[in-house]
Amino acid sequence: MQTATSPKKYLQEYNQIRDWTLQLCEPLQIEDYVVQPIIDVSPPKWHLGHTTWFFEQFILKKYMEGYREFHPDFNFVFNSYYESVGKRVLRADRGNLTRPSVEEVINYRKYVDEAMNLFLSEDNSTHDHIPELLKLGFNHEQQHQELLMTDLKYILGHNPLFPVYSERIERDGNNGSSKLNFLEIDEGIYHIGYEGEDFHFDNERGIHKVFTHRFQIADRLITNKEYLEFISSGGYKNFVYWLQEGFEFVKVNKIQAPLYWHMIEGEWYNFTLHGLKKPDPDEPVTHISFFEADAFAKWYGMRLPTEYEWEVAAGIYTPTIPPGANFDDKKIFTPRPISNNYQFFGDTWEWTNSAYLAYPFYSKADGAVGEYNGKFMINQMVLRGGSCVTPANHIRHSYRNFFHPDKRWQFTGIRLAQHI
Ligand SMILES: [Fe+2]
Repeated sequence: MQTATSPKKYLQEYNQIRDWTLQLCEPLQIEDYVVQPIIDVSPPKWHLGHTTWFFEQFILKKYMEGYREFHPDFNFVFNSYYESVGKRVLRADRGNLTRPSVEEVINYRKYVDEAMNLFLSEDNSTHDHIPELLKLGFNHEQQHQELLMTDLKYILGHNPLFPVYSERIERDGNNGSSKLNFLEIDEGIYHIGYEGEDFHFDNERGIHKVFTHRFQIADRLITNKEYLEFISSGGYKNFVYWLQEGFEFVKVNKIQAPLYWHMIEGEWYNFTLHGLKKPDPDEPVTHISFFEADAFAKWYGMRLPTEYEWEVAAGIYTPTIPPGANFDDKKIFTPRPISNNYQFFGDTWEWTNSAYLAYPFYSKADGAVGEYNGKFMINQMVLRGGSCVTPANHIRHSYRNFFHPDKRWQFTGIRLAQHI
């Protein structure tokens, strides 16, 4: 009989999540798996190996009797940043890993998947914390599914031939962008964070109270058309809109548009996973840094919401995540104009004006798992809501993503707010 703590019930979920990673890779050519054009972008092959290593390292090696590791070098090759798990390949060197081959990495996945299927078919209920580690492994793989897509976009988008990942699914034409409206939130003390039985990361744990003054928040994301007005009016060149560090960043790097935008014979083009196209005016602008999001908001005469304001507004106006939200299960892989429920979920991650810091009741877990989130709580900004390449069942109202303010390769976007 299956006990409450038996991992058997996770078998199907394990196989579904692992299989989805491979499905996302189906359009790739073998050469696409290997390159690392910038340090932030890991080769797809490395994502395939690293997510596999996670299950091997944290479950099979520790808890499966008689398990033999696939290869003695793979802990060194596929450990990402866990100091407590030993030495590892420098992040910048992941693109130099022409070996192990893609075939060997796929074989590694098969080997670990077979072992995991065997392990999950047995009654391991004596190890009470295995369900917790499994859920962490599932959510970790989902995070890498998203990174795989964003990294892949960077790899294809920096190939001079602009290869197509998938054909664009055209809109029916009825869901163009609407007038920008604002939702009002009364001042008050609100509850922020997560407390409950479902999976969550340690960085969102612990309900705590936050006071917000009365404010307004936009009912949708900022579109390409609105962002083009910022560009056309000289927004990138006028220091008054910019944080000093941000103005230096765009000047030094000669940035005058979102990542993937190209000026060709006097017209803007935008690389999407469906190839190089003219920016769709109604679609949300994406691939902008925090600096650009913040400058746009100031140019507009507003500001970005704090992560607390975002969570409060999303909780009031979108208490449940709409089934139609544009996550990776829709296989659109491009942000789309608002179609329902204020666009708080899906399409693009939304930069907030909140630094990524520990919540009041945060505590670091023991062991390697404690390295998952806490050590990154410096010099990064919080993003909320998920994007068109986030797995649909991965996101929550309390979910906190985080990136350095200059990063643009994720699907990042803008929602405005202001005090009233
Ligand atoms: Fe990872």
